[in-house]
Amino acid sequence: MEQDPTNPRKTTAPNPYPPLAPDKPWLAPLAGFSDLPFRMLCREYGAAAACTEMVSAKGLVYQGSGSWDLVRSIPRVPEDRPLIVQIFGAELSFIQEAVRRLLDWGAAYFDLNAGCPVKKVVKTGAGAGLLQDSGRLAAILQSMVSLAGEGRVGVKLRSGWSAAEFVSGNAAIRLDGMGLGWICLHPRSALQGLSGSADWGLLEKLKERIQTPLLASGDLYSARDGINCLQRTAADGVMYARGALANPALFQDHLRLLQEGGEAELDRATDLARRLQIAHRHVALCRRYADTRKNLLKMRTILPKYLKGFPDASAARSRMVRASSWEEIESTLEGLAPATLWEKSSDRHRRT
Ligand SMILES: Cc1cc2nc3c(=O)[nH]c(=O)nc-3n(C[C@H](O)[C@H](O)[C@H](O)COP(=O)(O)O)c2cc1C
Repeated sequence: MEQDPTNPRKTTAPNPYPPLAPDKPWLAPLAGFSDLPFRMLCREYGAAAACTEMVSAKGLVYQGSGSWDLVRSIPRVPEDRPLIVQIFGAELSFIQEAVRRLLDWGAAYFDLNAGCPVKKVVKTGAGAGLLQDSGRLAAILQSMVSLAGEGRVGVKLRSGWSAAEFVSGNAAIRLDGMGLGWICLHPRSALQGLSGSADWGLLEKLKERIQTPLLASGDLYSARDGINCLQRTAADGVMYARGALANPALFQDHLRLLQEGGEAELDRATDLARRLQIAHRHVALCRRYADTRKNLLKMRTILPKYLKGFPDASAARSRMVRASSWEEIESTLEGLAPATLWEKSSDRHRRT
């Protein structure tokens, strides 16, 4: 890689754009969830790129350990790439400094959060607050591109503040041609939060208006939703959020659906066997990358979600939420081995 003489931090790679195409599904930024083990899990199932949860620009500049914890792994874990660091903030100087420090730390791709509707964030002008000041939004993104390089910066927008307006439609036109690598739209208003439904019609409209690659988010609960969204909106790629939390293997389903057509639905036995495998892999990745008590406590609430549909799920869930070690969690999962499971479930059927 060569250095850009006008900016020694910036390197000029042959293809600076991250993989973004219908067969390159991304893992969305998910506060509290898109940590290193979960990103690696989704990558194993086919996620082509993964985002960190949103990280405060100010927190990074003031050396807040909570903020740095979210990106601590960057120089140590080269397999966690391409990684998109999502930044939130409203002040240009903090965002510039955060990007500079992250570049020095080894980060390559940056997304600006212009959609978080949480009051605490919006009242500082950050997140969806940026939609109310498209000049500031453009200035911040322009400056991020000049620091990180063309193709390496993107933005995640909501449709606008309220359902009545498609503010980000105009904002995105202003951002087009700026050298952004992607524009992601979650077509819900900030006031909507996660309620109601996402308006994919807005994605379709935006795609007609901009040249920058468009990434779709919103109501992508399954691979079938992802493919439908691509077909209906002509977006360049999709980003899975709650769908991936419920089923990290949906990236695999997405690729299978695209390649083979037909159904991504697995039969029940295969689906349960895969869920068990997901739970085992998630534990193994936590032990490898985030072997802490804090993470163990967090996983006690996450793992049971993978066990939906297991005949023994409720007993396993109550053992799991009390587990005090990874071994205990693993032995609970082993107790759910499909062979035992199917004997038990067929016994139950015979009895009824
Ligand atoms: C638990 C949770 C955390 C989220 N955290 C972030 C975040 O940190 N940054 C962001 O831009 N969006 C965040 N989102 C929004 C998602 O990335 C996504 O845009 C939204 O959930 C819509 O997609 P879906 O309907 O397919 O879930 C979050 C959503 C959820 C459910």
